[in-house]
Amino acid sequence: MAAAEHYLDGKGGFLASSIGKKIVMAVTGTILFLFVTVHMLGNMQAYLGPHAFNAYAELLHTSLHGAGIWIFRSVLLVAVLLHAWAALSLTLDNMKARPKGYREQQLWSATWASRTMRYSGVVLALFIIYHLLHLTTGQVHPSFQPGNAYANFVNGFSQVGASLFYIVAQLCLGLHLWHGIWSFTQTFGWAHPRYNKLRRTVATVFAVAIVLGNISFPIAVLCGVIR
Ligand code: HEM
Repeated sequence: MAAAEHYLDGKGGFLASSIGKKIVMAVTGTILFLFVTVHMLGNMQAYLGPHAFNAYAELLHTSLHGAGIWIFRSVLLVAVLLHAWAALSLTLDNMKARPKGYREQQLWSATWASRTMRYSGVVLALFIIYHLLHLTTGQVHPSFQPGNAYANFVNGFSQVGASLFYIVAQLCLGLHLWHGIWSFTQTFGWAHPRYNKLRRTVATVFAVAIVLGNISFPIAVLCGVIR
């Protein structure tokens, strides 16, 4: 028991170590990645019309007698908080540990996506807050109708400013996912010359598919394909 406490206490154990934080980032990043994939596929119901989309939203809210959505929200909230904590903590550790010359040298060899992770992460955090106030609770929506997810979707994306913000946020999401998938496959031990090409391809295919799927929604509403 004492050993387990020490292991998780954050004072020299698992959570204080760089590898411990990287594992937290990789596990929570994988949960969030699975969520955005399933969320994008679920939102595709919008192409099938109001009945299909509202039935899907209703199912999310009523599964397990209404408990399902709260279990799902709790898992997502814990994953987001741990992911942000590990990212901040690793950044602070790196700033403390790294001599300046090495840091500059590293910046040259790192990809642009990896260097911008913290900025795309901050844009995503702001996007999630806006998105919840927009399509879940409705405070920043022009004409929110509780229980009518399809109308909220169409009326929300009819505003050009809101749609543009969604599109920019999805581009940040793509960049974040592209480097994130590459990183978590490394943390899970799949960085090997034989697999690196496959890892890069998988990261690119998922990042591009999620961005294209997600930006198609505001564009489809603005073009009148979804109305
Ligand atoms: C254009 C892309 C997106 C569309 C069209 C979209 C659409 C929606 C809709 C309609 C809801 C409300 C469902 C309901 O309450 O009935 C929702 C909820 C939510 N979305 Fe998105 N979403 C998009 C992208 C994202 C992204 C990229 C994330 C995360 C990074 C995200 C995270 C969430 C979360 C956490 C909820 C709340 C689920 C809940 O607790 O009820 N969404 N989204």
